[in-house]
Amino acid sequence: MPANVLGNGVTVQWYGHACVLITSANTGTEGGKRIMIDPFVQSNPACPKELHDVRDLDLLLITHGHGDHMGDAVTVCKSGKPKKVIAIHEIGEWLATKGVENVSGMNRGGTQEAEGIKVTQTLAIHSSGIGDGADMYPGGEPSGYVLTLENGFRIYHAGDTALFGDMALIGELWTPDLALLPIGDHYTMGPREAARAAQLLGAKWVVPIHWGTFPVLTGTPQQLRAAAGGKFEVLELKPGETLS
Ligand code: NI
Ligand code: MN
Repeated sequence: MPANVLGNGVTVQWYGHACVLITSANTGTEGGKRIMIDPFVQSNPACPKELHDVRDLDLLLITHGHGDHMGDAVTVCKSGKPKKVIAIHEIGEWLATKGVENVSGMNRGGTQEAEGIKVTQTLAIHSSGIGDGADMYPGGEPSGYVLTLENGFRIYHAGDTALFGDMALIGELWTPDLALLPIGDHYTMGPREAARAAQLLGAKWVVPIHWGTFPVLTGTPQQLRAAAGGKFEVLELKPGETLS
């Protein structure tokens, strides 16, 4: 159903929860880059089994330290061999201690170019401890990302966050075409706040994420659509489905 909405060669496959695989438009001379955000794959109850073996990644991005976002990072790095792993400095250091290679730590407010993609790390209002067995390591601060693909198409992945007013600045500076926004409530924004976020961002299209995975996440795409009032388009995906 969500096929050929974007119509520009960019695809976004939802692995369930906040995990997505973005492929940039392949022009033959550039593009075709495979970018995974928030590797929650094998331990993700929503992720279809046929997607468990992740291969051929160009970039792996992590928004924050929680298990439902980076719990499978080490496994995914082993099989997917990303050319660059991008996270906030503290998470990058922690991943390196686990044998993850090609880490390029950064911090919020900065942009780095990686494999032809401009990666801007943005604020998120949340927490970011890294659970490791019985221990909890400080994972720096939580983040989101704006990706500027080779063809200029911009995607914002909010990570886990509350609604915050400076989303208007992200909208003003980066004008994302597509926003991936958490709507599940309880740990993040619910649909009402996410609808306001989409307006601050000025996004035309919103893919709701971080919903339906666990019973405590009660927000639904239908509620988001009702709150949108026609001001933006809600592109609801099923886990495993690809938006193009
Ligand atoms: Ni979280
Ligand atoms: Mn989460």
